[in-house]
Amino acid sequence: MTVQFGHPMREEWPQDPAVTYLNHGTVGAPPKRVLEVQQRLRDEIERQPSHFLLREISPKGVGVWKRERSRLRDAANAVGEFIGAKGDDLVFVDNTTEGVNAVLRSFDFLEGDEVLVSDLAYGAVLHAADYATRVRGARVRIMELSKSVQEPGEIVRTVGEAIGPNTRILVIDHITSGNALIMHVAQIAELCRRRGVAVLVDGAHAPGAIPVNIASLGVDWYTGNLHKWAWSPRSCGVLWASPARQQSLRPTVISWGLDQGFTQEFDWPGTRDPTPHLAAPAGIAFMRELGVDRVQRHNHELAWQAGLELTQHMQARLLAPESMIGTMVTLVLPARFGSTADDAAMLRDALLFAHQIEVHVAAFHNRVCVRVSAQIYNEMSDIGRLIEALNRC
Ligand SMILES: Cc1ncc(COP(=O)(O)O)c(C=O)c1O
Repeated sequence: MTVQFGHPMREEWPQDPAVTYLNHGTVGAPPKRVLEVQQRLRDEIERQPSHFLLREISPKGVGVWKRERSRLRDAANAVGEFIGAKGDDLVFVDNTTEGVNAVLRSFDFLEGDEVLVSDLAYGAVLHAADYATRVRGARVRIMELSKSVQEPGEIVRTVGEAIGPNTRILVIDHITSGNALIMHVAQIAELCRRRGVAVLVDGAHAPGAIPVNIASLGVDWYTGNLHKWAWSPRSCGVLWASPARQQSLRPTVISWGLDQGFTQEFDWPGTRDPTPHLAAPAGIAFMRELGVDRVQRHNHELAWQAGLELTQHMQARLLAPESMIGTMVTLVLPARFGSTADDAAMLRDALLFAHQIEVHVAAFHNRVCVRVSAQIYNEMSDIGRLIEALNRC
């Protein structure tokens, strides 16, 4: 029997039923059954903590292994199958911010080198790029992509024009944060390859939201979150590096794995809770059980429909065509909602505290924008509630 999506799915999530949750993309929301797997793993660890952490997880330098392979490697293999990567080219990190930091802070920038980042990039990523370059006399250059979002080809052209003689790395989102647009990463990477520029993809919102096949993208590094759209517990990110980039890549925390090879360097950053990583395959398994295509189609159709309804009933404005929208849609609200970060914060609070709706609201290009996330526990009536609330704000 086909499971019904929409509110019947709320049973599978632990969220407060009094709140209409349209904010899945911000910090993710793991299903109950994945959290149960994580708890079972915690119970298993606590029966014999040092045995588990030193003999089942850590690299050989720390403990005396009981197993052929660390359980983290088994989890990496399972995740790799889902995102088109070999498990041994993939390591776990806590989140995308950490993955970006590892890549940029490992890179051997020379004075005058440049990292090209778009004006749509996530703020913390910009900070990481700023820090990694400034300590080596390199710099960040910001290209304006936000004006080119009407069609993907225009974005590729803008990137091509922005690359300069000193550009070493391009950092590009797979799905942007603020305006939630899918970038055509493979085309951009091909262009960069021809120009000798390495590509780091920020895939914070991609795994689980859209089909991802990292190996086919032709990029140098890819980092993303599983704790957003792949339903893993927090904190669970991945970092993939092409074989040619692995030797020079260092984790943000140097530990026992130094010089022991890519996976060993990352797999033991010191004592930490490995359960978000070990439970990640359970999130993927649940999505597979429901049908990955079906889940992604539902979420996309709901997001797009939300965009159309908000356009029609709120005089809100969509930012891009349907082909660039995944499971989130961002709309520019009418001028009466204000233009500043404070205006956005006030609206966000009013929606939550007066109307029990949690949704991402931010200021973007001098207008207040709302970003609606669609997950299988949402349905059109949630969008109706949002429109009604916005009309009363
Ligand atoms: C595009 C993008 N990059 C990076 C991040 C950072 O993710 P995290 O806080 O999990 O590191 C986010 C968070 O929403 C994001 O939207």
